Amino acid sequence: MRRKIVAGNWKMNNTLKEGLELARRVNELLKNDQDQEVVVILGTPFIHLSEVGKLVDPSKISISAQNCSAEPRGAFTGEISAEMIASTGARYVILGHSERRAYYHEDDQVINRKVKTALEYKLHPVFCCGEILDQREENIHFDVIRKQLEVGLFDLNQDAFSGIIIAYEPVWAIGTGVNATPEQAQEMHKFIRDLINKKYGKEISTDTSILYGGSCKPSNAKELFHNPDVDGGLIGGASLKADDFYSIIHSF
Ligand code: PGA
Repeated sequence: MRRKIVAGNWKMNNTLKEGLELARRVNELLKNDQDQEVVVILGTPFIHLSEVGKLVDPSKISISAQNCSAEPRGAFTGEISAEMIASTGARYVILGHSERRAYYHEDDQVINRKVKTALEYKLHPVFCCGEILDQREENIHFDVIRKQLEVGLFDLNQDAFSGIIIAYEPVWAIGTGVNATPEQAQEMHKFIRDLINKKYGKEISTDTSILYGGSCKPSNAKELFHNPDVDGGLIGGASLKADDFYSIIHSF
């Protein structure tokens, strides 16, 4: 079923103590919400996963990692496996984020392997795609997204694909304060949904949640989420403030 989702991406922010305090405040704010419709996810650093998971109400908040190894286990010093993440109780993992692509040279093939490893351990990948500014200015942004999806995801079978959440994050909008316009977001989300429709059929494309990410904040979340193909957001900076994050959760 297609769900409304607001996922925080804390990135490399918050000590353990700060992270627990932030999670506690989000949990507190959500406590009085009756019939919470929105799936709320906190994407924390690895070291927070287990303790944040224990602190929050699991019927209101789910936990996500921000990366995982493409390898299942073994001699890979410093890496964290999908199985380890799943063992903390986390249910999601952000994969293919543009910061991983740009700074850690993750290409579509590596991301594809990570997606498959994550699915093997029953984690839901939040698969990020997005073009850089030059690509949009050259008018090749649709081709860029098509390739990221085709290589990153489209060799999955229907059953595996139905475990995926997609986040469209134009790189030029991430952390810049300049968000995509609601029209730009809708146009790309529809393009993505049409690609899924062609590959996996109507039912799966209708059921897939496609999130927008990139300078999404309380002041613009409503107009972005109002679009028919925008099912919520992946939130960086604004997820570090409990009140702002809560306000975005209430922007549908
Ligand atoms: P931002 O980051 O909200 O700070 O732009 C979004 C993301 O990178 O997921």
